[in-house]
Amino acid sequence: MLLHKLALIKLGGSVVTFKDKPLAANAAAIENISRILAQVDVPAIIVHGGGSFGHYRSMKYEMHTKPAAYDVHGVSVVHESMIALNQIIVNSMIRVGLNPYGIPPSLFTTGRKPIAAKLEQVHTMARSKALPVTFGDVVHMGAKKYSILSGDALMTILAKMLRPSRVVFATNVDGIFKDMESKELLTEIRLGDKKSIAFSKPLDADVTGGMQRKVTEAFKIASHGMDVLMVNGLVPERIAEAIGGTLRTGTVVKGGKR
Ligand code: IPE
Repeated sequence: MLLHKLALIKLGGSVVTFKDKPLAANAAAIENISRILAQVDVPAIIVHGGGSFGHYRSMKYEMHTKPAAYDVHGVSVVHESMIALNQIIVNSMIRVGLNPYGIPPSLFTTGRKPIAAKLEQVHTMARSKALPVTFGDVVHMGAKKYSILSGDALMTILAKMLRPSRVVFATNVDGIFKDMESKELLTEIRLGDKKSIAFSKPLDADVTGGMQRKVTEAFKIASHGMDVLMVNGLVPERIAEAIGGTLRTGTVVKGGKR
């Protein structure tokens, strides 16, 4: 039994931006989700993706999740695009009365490694009515190397350290489909089922691996014993349902031990 609740929620780039249009935030979707979050009174940490901000810029500078000596000017441009998207989201949340606090991942990670004391501080903030809002970003890996740290990988880092009572991935689809032909929604999957899921190829503009990456991270989190809920964030009530434990349409990746 957990002493307190914590919801860890990833807002995918396909929800908060229009992925096929460079630097276009989906203001309506962001506002709808902000309103829903304002109604759900549970400590939470939000992670958002890059969508047509981070991915678009990363493509231009050929930057990926593999640490390398990327063009430092590109590092500036990609990071700035993520700060810009974070500001759009944070401002939308402020307008509906939430108390968001934007936090680049470099404040609580060194490369991909979490800094425990800083993460605990983020957790404490979430427990005292602030809403930390972090995001996939380009991070320094040491010497001349940088890497894209995806919001999905951040979810795993945060879930492993903070053990939230709810882990939610919101994308622009209803959940995980058995295959792309039948579009049959899987309502519940277990750790052993991963091989049976057929993925479509990620969009060209996705430098971190599309849906397959999300499912991979969801399984990683589930293997640490936490259920992971995959929902359609463009139907924001489902985020509220997922947090409240009453999800009707979506996929639950059941937590367990491998
Ligand atoms: C991407 O984060 C961050 C950058 C490209 C800088 P994600 O990989 O989590 O983004 P989405 O959700 O797939 O758009």
